[in-house]
Amino acid sequence: MGESVNFKEFKMQVCKRSVYCGLVDEKFLDKEISLVGWVNKRRDHGNLIFIDLRDNTGIMQLVLNPENSQEVINLAKDIRAEFVICVEGKVRKRSANAVNEKMKTGKFELIVNELQILNRAKTLPYQLEEADNVEADLRLKYRYLDLRRKKMFDLFKLRSDVTFLIRQYFNSKNFLEIETPILSKSTPEGARDFLVPSRLQIGKFYALPQSPQIYKQLLMASGMDKYFQLAKCFRDEDFRSNRQPEFTQLDMEMSFVQESDVMGVVEGLVKLIFEKIFNKTLRLPFSQYSYDEVFQRFGTDKPDFRFGLEIKDITSLFESTKLKFLESVVEGGGKVGALFVKERDFSRSELSNWEKFAKEKLGASGLLYIKITDGQKLESPVSKFLPTNFASEVQKLIPDTKTSGTIFIVADEFTKAWEVLGSLRLELGKKLNLIDKDEFNFSWIIDFPLLEWDEKDKRWFAVHHPFTSPKGDIDKKNIKDIRARAYDLVCNGEELGGGSVRVHDSKVQKQIFDILGIDQKEAKEKFGFLLEAQDLGFPPHGGFALGLDRLIMLLGKTDSIRDVIAFPKMQSGICPMMQTPSFVDKKQLKELGIKLK
Ligand code: AMO
Repeated sequence: MGESVNFKEFKMQVCKRSVYCGLVDEKFLDKEISLVGWVNKRRDHGNLIFIDLRDNTGIMQLVLNPENSQEVINLAKDIRAEFVICVEGKVRKRSANAVNEKMKTGKFELIVNELQILNRAKTLPYQLEEADNVEADLRLKYRYLDLRRKKMFDLFKLRSDVTFLIRQYFNSKNFLEIETPILSKSTPEGARDFLVPSRLQIGKFYALPQSPQIYKQLLMASGMDKYFQLAKCFRDEDFRSNRQPEFTQLDMEMSFVQESDVMGVVEGLVKLIFEKIFNKTLRLPFSQYSYDEVFQRFGTDKPDFRFGLEIKDITSLFESTKLKFLESVVEGGGKVGALFVKERDFSRSELSNWEKFAKEKLGASGLLYIKITDGQKLESPVSKFLPTNFASEVQKLIPDTKTSGTIFIVADEFTKAWEVLGSLRLELGKKLNLIDKDEFNFSWIIDFPLLEWDEKDKRWFAVHHPFTSPKGDIDKKNIKDIRARAYDLVCNGEELGGGSVRVHDSKVQKQIFDILGIDQKEAKEKFGFLLEAQDLGFPPHGGFALGLDRLIMLLGKTDSIRDVIAFPKMQSGICPMMQTPSFVDKKQLKELGIKLK
């Protein structure tokens, strides 16, 4: 790179952009314009130099020819990819054989008069067009380069458009946008807290909010009536492709409402987003399914409804089986579940791969298969143990088996077996191309259990959070049957959001704390302020939180949540660009009264 100081590089009057690169069209023909941007590519043919100049709207071809001064030509010869430059010149039609139909501006070029280098670029750590194949830590170390790509710009434009619509929508419905504290207290959303030590209160810690749950409820006690916020939430939990430790919720709450009121507002928002972003009309209301029904049919509480392949209970066919393993499962009160893949003849190696997948990835104790041809002929490693009338009996439970295909069978304790089958169903759906990728299937899951028993910890946990209202009275003798006034929004197998009608009566709240093993002292210490508020005129209320990042992933059709968060963390929790988390000065620790071991 040239060391010589060039006057034009240091000219302080920065040339002003008159139009964006991608927006140059017919109306600029033969006009003088100025462009700024990044050099995408330079092609040098001696005294004829072509430069593709890029900004976030597109690319424009620049031409430098012998009519340019030697000074400008020399400058242009220095230019490399990713230099930031400014040019002035006249727009001209390209000759017919040079037109590029694939480019928005492919009919035009800019004949450059003036050129200024605003910033030089060394060779990049990776080529931008190669970014999708580059190791994630390198991509994130140079996140600003990664974000230079059109694909990334489009995702963040989408995110910005969606948040704009959210604000417009809630504003039009008289919701107040209210910010709640980040330096907060632990809220039980089920993850570990991020803690912040206090300097002024040595030995004490703030917790970063896992969600604004309690604050928004207290805003209802304040008479705010309708609240929303694009809220940053923090959860120290294991990473997944749809989880980050720091993420954003569209959080909302309303007073004096039933489930249907809140669900209606959420549906209206989703409909508006689809109309404005995709020009697509969604049919309202979204379908509603009970938790029990979807678990029975799909082995999960967030089913992908875009394809069939539902789980069928075929336990009754094995009540007097000679197969030892199945016999012991059935006798022990377990269940035998099946997925029938129609018109699909798997090879031996495919079948053994599916078995391996079920065992190794899904923790299944086994995966049986039975191939059926024309509803009659059976082929399976266990064929000789199957009753002679198996084919006709299975048709009563799975009518599709009248045709040909393969039954996959898992036998285990009900929840375990159905979870394995649910995950297997999803993988089969993906691998066998059963899913229409252009479909968006929004549904509500309702009637969740309020509490679930954890065998490991030997205690009850709230399925949503402890502030969710039960349906009816709490019957302590029948805890597992108590249903919650909760609702989850799912789309294409993803949980997009969840909410509920809340407890607003301290007596009910105390009953729930009691079942959760939170004694009076702990309840007072942790949630005394809420219990007190519940005795000082608390309106009935309910709300919802939508995972904004997940929504954008879905709308932007990307598989990784990192693609829709400007500066995300790696799986190990680090940010390779900023090098966070990082060590701090001893002095800082001392001020906080902290000594590292
Ligand atoms: P919940 O815990 O179900 O409910 O969270 C609501 C939605 O937030 C998104 N989400 C996440 N997104 C990215 N990374 C994460 N680590 C993460 N965790 C959750 C999901 C989820 O559906 N206070 C309640 C809501 C309420 O009752 O109003 C709550 O936070 O899309």
